[in-house]
Amino acid sequence: MNLMDYFNIKKKIIDDYLNTLLPYSTSEPVINDAMRYSLFCGGKRIRPILSLLVCDMFGGNEDELLPFACSIEMIHTYSLIHDDLPGMDNDDFRRGNPSNHKVYGEGYAILAGDALLNKAFEIMMTTIANNPESRFIEAAKEICTASGLKGMIGGQAIDLYYENKHINSNTLDKMHEQKTGALICASLNIGSLISNASNKDFQTIYSFGRLIGKAFQITDDILDITSTTEKLGKPVGSDKEKHKSTYVSFYGLEESKLLAKKLITDAKMLISPLPNNAKLIGLADYIINREK
Ligand code: IPE
Ligand code: IPE
Ligand code: MG
Ligand code: MG
Ligand code: MG
Repeated sequence: MNLMDYFNIKKKIIDDYLNTLLPYSTSEPVINDAMRYSLFCGGKRIRPILSLLVCDMFGGNEDELLPFACSIEMIHTYSLIHDDLPGMDNDDFRRGNPSNHKVYGEGYAILAGDALLNKAFEIMMTTIANNPESRFIEAAKEICTASGLKGMIGGQAIDLYYENKHINSNTLDKMHEQKTGALICASLNIGSLISNASNKDFQTIYSFGRLIGKAFQITDDILDITSTTEKLGKPVGSDKEKHKSTYVSFYGLEESKLLAKKLITDAKMLISPLPNNAKLIGLADYIINREK
């Protein structure tokens, strides 16, 4: 099967499952709509697709994984709603539509983000309460850690701190690893954990995740200047306007492209001994070749 067809099949499974987790409801006016607005307005679903890919690779059970993979997508979506707020990147477009706060106002955008995060934890805890196997507890722990101070939130704080300031290369790498790499690694790791992969395979996939996670954010930095708002679905030129520290501002465009390419080459090499790796290799290539 062609890779894009495979992605689309997985995307449909993820969207359907998200819909059952957060259905349309009139009993919580505005806030339920605000949550659904950002969740269903056009994300690529890369993180849950990565989880499902690893699960397929190791022969795991997709139904067991979906609550955790979709929790990551909810947390990622909350991070985007908050990332766009005036107090952070102040961006008016996201996923091809007006940002959450442009439609619902800042107060509801803050609450919608908080509620998506909370919903994710409710889903994971409910799943664990029904079946308290250690692999599910470990998966939830991965997601907690990757979302927090040592992961995404910590990375976002570094991003804010280094607006209008000079960053060094180590801190730039730490920022990318945390703000974007952490949730990408967690997506892969929960795939390994839930499908009972061996320790060795878990480590290989985790190392692969660290490389593609960084390449993903470098490519995001590149697309901010090489793409168009129409293609990207979010404003281009935003990083420069806010004097953000990015790979492009630090290394320049051409060097950044080379660095991202090298990371993907190394990542593909790492997983080359694993069986059934073709789709994961295809996804690694997609990360640097994508247009949005
Ligand atoms: C955007 O993530 C934010 C970053 C961490 C770079 P995606 O590029 O995965 O955004 P969506 O989910 O497709 O909108
Ligand atoms: C954000 O990085 C990463 C998050 C954790 C949300 P960016 O600020 O570069 O993401 P975009 O470009 O707005 O999607
Ligand atoms: Mg940001
Ligand atoms: Mg942003
Ligand atoms: Mg960006």
